Amino acid sequence: MSFHAPLGPFTSFKIGGPADAIVEPADVEDVRKLVRQARAGRIPLFVVGGTNLLIRDGGIRGIVVSLAQLRAIKEEAGDVLYAEGGVGMPTLIGHAIRRSLAGLEWAAGIPGTVGGCVVMNAGTRLGEMKDSVKGVRLVTINGDVKDLPAAAIPFTYRRAKLPKGIVVGVWLQLRKGVRAEIEKVVKDYLHYRKDTQPLTMPSAGCVFKNPPQDSAGRLVEFSGLKGARVGDAEVSTKHGNFIVNKGQAKAADVVALIQKVRRAVKQKAGVRLELELKIVGEA
Ligand code: EPU
Repeated sequence: MSFHAPLGPFTSFKIGGPADAIVEPADVEDVRKLVRQARAGRIPLFVVGGTNLLIRDGGIRGIVVSLAQLRAIKEEAGDVLYAEGGVGMPTLIGHAIRRSLAGLEWAAGIPGTVGGCVVMNAGTRLGEMKDSVKGVRLVTINGDVKDLPAAAIPFTYRRAKLPKGIVVGVWLQLRKGVRAEIEKVVKDYLHYRKDTQPLTMPSAGCVFKNPPQDSAGRLVEFSGLKGARVGDAEVSTKHGNFIVNKGQAKAADVVALIQKVRRAVKQKAGVRLELELKIVGEA
């Protein structure tokens, strides 16, 4: 447990004020205890791990939970993988490739944890979490473990409607494939993303949702905003739907830049962009 620790290092944006406390539970039992104690003491909990996240400069009150220790992957019958909530998506894809299991190729290049990806129903042009999830294990706000089949979870665009709680594990329904073929799809897709997205710079992935039948990145480019800057926050020159941290960007810089982009796209393209990025914490 650490106190008043900056949250930047826990986010892909490398931005964020301090948490009152950061806790890394060792296992699911620890998560249950933490949830019960926090509830008894009325202390709010916030789980980090998603990457579509901007934490404001004032940080987060209460306890921030990192599931980095929940990183086991188990194979189950019927080409199912069970991954604990803190498993990184790239690790999971690597595991599936080594076992010749197909079905997760769509997620190549997504940097978040599998738990974060479920909550966000993370997706790309090739697919989304909803296509791969067989079930979810939650620790509810009462500290109970609850297993939900995918059919009981309403998935929408970049959101899963889950009961309040912490996702501690995910079952993924995959299928037997040919290792070289799975690897090729993943590599090609990673190349495409590396060519079109600023993957080597700190960012939070796409900032805006794509409007129906269009691309937010295209609209930002059309509106002349690529390369626009507030402080160290910059609209990527590579992909208009990414804001990158050029060094010491503050959350306030990102928020100001988002407003600038939204205004310009509304004015020039007549489209009101909706945020995909989740903004949390105190200003
Ligand atoms: N485009 C531009 N200018 C730009 C960016 C894109 O003209 O600056 C054009 C491209 O040339 C292309 C079209 O817009 O014709 C679509 O671009 P791209 O293939 O990059 O896909 P996207 O719709 O911009 C979506 C997802 C990404 C995901 C990519 C690739 C959303 C909001 N975006 O982007 O997801 O990586 O497809 O699969 O769903 C994310 O969710 O964080 C994210 C980055």
